[in-house]
Amino acid sequence: MQILVFGKDGQLGKAFQQQFEQTPLEKFGVQVQLIGRSDCDLANPQEMIALLGRVKPNVIINAAAYTAVDQAESEPELAHAINARAPQLMAQYAVENGATLLHYSTDYVFDGGKAGVYIESDLRNPLSQYGKSKAAGEHAIEEVFKKASKGQYAILRTSWVYGDGGNFIRTILRLAKEREALNIIQDQLGVPTSAQWLAAISLDFIFNDEWQIQKITSGIYHAVPPGQTNWYELAIVAINSAIEVGASLKLDPSNIKPIQAIEYPLPAPRPMNSRMSAQKLKKAIEARADVSKLQRWDTSWTEQVRTYVQALVKEQVI
Ligand SMILES: NC(=O)c1ccc[n+]([C@@H]2O[C@H](COP(=O)([O-])OP(=O)(O)OC[C@H]3O[C@@H](n4cnc5c(N)ncnc54)[C@H](OP(=O)(O)O)[C@@H]3O)[C@@H](O)[C@H]2O)c1
Repeated sequence: MQILVFGKDGQLGKAFQQQFEQTPLEKFGVQVQLIGRSDCDLANPQEMIALLGRVKPNVIINAAAYTAVDQAESEPELAHAINARAPQLMAQYAVENGATLLHYSTDYVFDGGKAGVYIESDLRNPLSQYGKSKAAGEHAIEEVFKKASKGQYAILRTSWVYGDGGNFIRTILRLAKEREALNIIQDQLGVPTSAQWLAAISLDFIFNDEWQIQKITSGIYHAVPPGQTNWYELAIVAINSAIEVGASLKLDPSNIKPIQAIEYPLPAPRPMNSRMSAQKLKKAIEARADVSKLQRWDTSWTEQVRTYVQALVKEQVI
């Protein structure tokens, strides 16, 4: 079996790489090709189609995306090419070849106006160009598979991702070394998601213990760990976790001031409410997974952030 992973140098792509390094792939007859931007530019359809034709993957994991949310406001065509056109071509390959497509999307497809927690069938209404390009990607995949008799797909919608790469938590930890006080937004709600956790539950979903592809119900699934928070609380948890393991910071958590999003304007509007329920995905995995896999769903976002931050401190990354 051939697995092709796009986006090998991104946070999620690196998390997949780590998952594969921990697996005796040969034993299960699995081959993995990790593809970065220099191997294949997803903005170039011909390059991508040629690569798919050469590798002939049974599973495509698309961890690549145009993720520069503010920059996308001035580069909507490029964002669309990478986030909508490229996944559409991956979907076309999957339906023509009976392959499985695992694609990632974002809470930014929502406008954030819902009072409660978002579920998969809630209406897409993106506020930003990035959100629009990701929503167009979801729609394009759905449309390609509508007429398909072969292949399957899952679009995993996630939020506030942190891993090996630039992210909110690393920015806060860096600023905490440089500054004595910080203002952080408190009125935007969401769920921080570990890239490692996301890669692990993705593999739980589409493979069994023998690395055989499982039949899944094609569609959108929300993929976030238990709990919910806001940016201010996330910053406090991150800073306290770093202090617990002896990080030397200039910033005392009592000097983090909660502010409103309106006080910190950015080029791209963000949804005020990004909370998503992952019950659909959890139930689908529960229906056939063993107990050890289900334990991943018991770890709250708080515990996951603590583990992540403390590893960064111990490895002297920050
Ligand atoms: N980060 C978040 O907070 C967040 C939140 C919600 C959803 N998501 C979704 O989760 C998925 C993974 O995100 P992530 O945080 O891992 O993103 P990331 O760290 O920004 O990684 C994205 C990867 O895509 C690659 N890429 C960008 N343009 C490309 C192109 N034209 N051709 C080939 N590769 C290209 C980048 O290559 P380079 O390394 O060369 O730049 C990068 O390695 C994405 O679908 C994203 O939309 C992320």
